[in-house]
Amino acid sequence: MLGCGLMGTGIAQVAATAGYQTIVRDVAPEIWSRARANIDKSLAKFVEKNKLSAAEKAAALDRLRFTTETRDLAACDLIIEAVSEDLELKNALWKELDQLAGPRTIFASNTSSLTIAAMAAATRRPDRFVGLHFFNPVPLMQLVEVVRTVTTSADTYTRATAFAASLGKAAVAAQDVSGFLVNLLLVPYLLDAIRVVERRIGTVADVDRAMQLGCGYPMGPLTLLDFVGLDTTYKIAEIMFLEYRESRYAPPPLLKRMVLAGMNGRKSGKGFYDYSVDPPTVSDLGL
Ligand code: 3HC
Repeated sequence: MLGCGLMGTGIAQVAATAGYQTIVRDVAPEIWSRARANIDKSLAKFVEKNKLSAAEKAAALDRLRFTTETRDLAACDLIIEAVSEDLELKNALWKELDQLAGPRTIFASNTSSLTIAAMAAATRRPDRFVGLHFFNPVPLMQLVEVVRTVTTSADTYTRATAFAASLGKAAVAAQDVSGFLVNLLLVPYLLDAIRVVERRIGTVADVDRAMQLGCGYPMGPLTLLDFVGLDTTYKIAEIMFLEYRESRYAPPPLLKRMVLAGMNGRKSGKGFYDYSVDPPTVSDLGL
């Protein structure tokens, strides 16, 4: 596993729980301790609900190792990358691993919006490169998009789909277009929700209430934005806008201002809601 932010941590958790020896590479031990603590907390919730035994929880934690060294991943059968949405950063890691990993090792990216082809082309194994796109919170969300690019071999695609199934996830096949299936539909919806607030058509609380109670969504769009991360959504929107040149993918100015101010949502303590209080209150955005 490359990266243990929100998504990498969740993916490492489900892999270790499913019985895989899992090694996670990230740049600093402080990041590992946060990831391990979050995994511990999440597994404890499953134990509380009798979905996992205490022994299974301990065994899952035992299967997890952390490292700062990219070369420690060389012996893995499958390497999943979930670092920040930055093609240069991703490709630097892929190029390094391409030299080190064995010929059967599959490379998989959890990118939300970059194309798999742009990463596969940076390696000498474009036939063994696939997209495995998970959803937050990974331990609870059932879906994985398995993304085949023009060079992915049928064998790689089959092995990647079987891996997703072995985690207990449902796989859908998606083409290698920016946003795949889910974000192609979800991102314009989330950006429109920001535009509605920005134009004062509805308040943060009312937009969320409207979509929850009117459409039965588990979270309103602004709560979901805080949950996914405003910085992450901003990067995804920029990449999708560059790909499609359509205004519906353009990040609204309010999103950019909030990211500039460090209001990245739940993980930073503040976004459309203020999480320093319980229950969270709507942030004052000066609108
Ligand atoms: N691990 C284990 N258990 C967890 C957990 C985790 N990480 N997170 C929440 N839970 C548990 C809670 O403890 C709670 O347990 P309880 O019922 O015993 O109290 C239970 O799950 C339900 O959680 P909550 O009461 O906090 O809240 P909800 O009932 O609203 O459920 C949710 C939480 C499953 C996150 C639900 O709100 C939901 O489905 N939201 C939408 C999420 C979504 O759309 N995700 C996709 C985002 S897009 C994406 O990821 C793609 C990327 O590319 C951008």
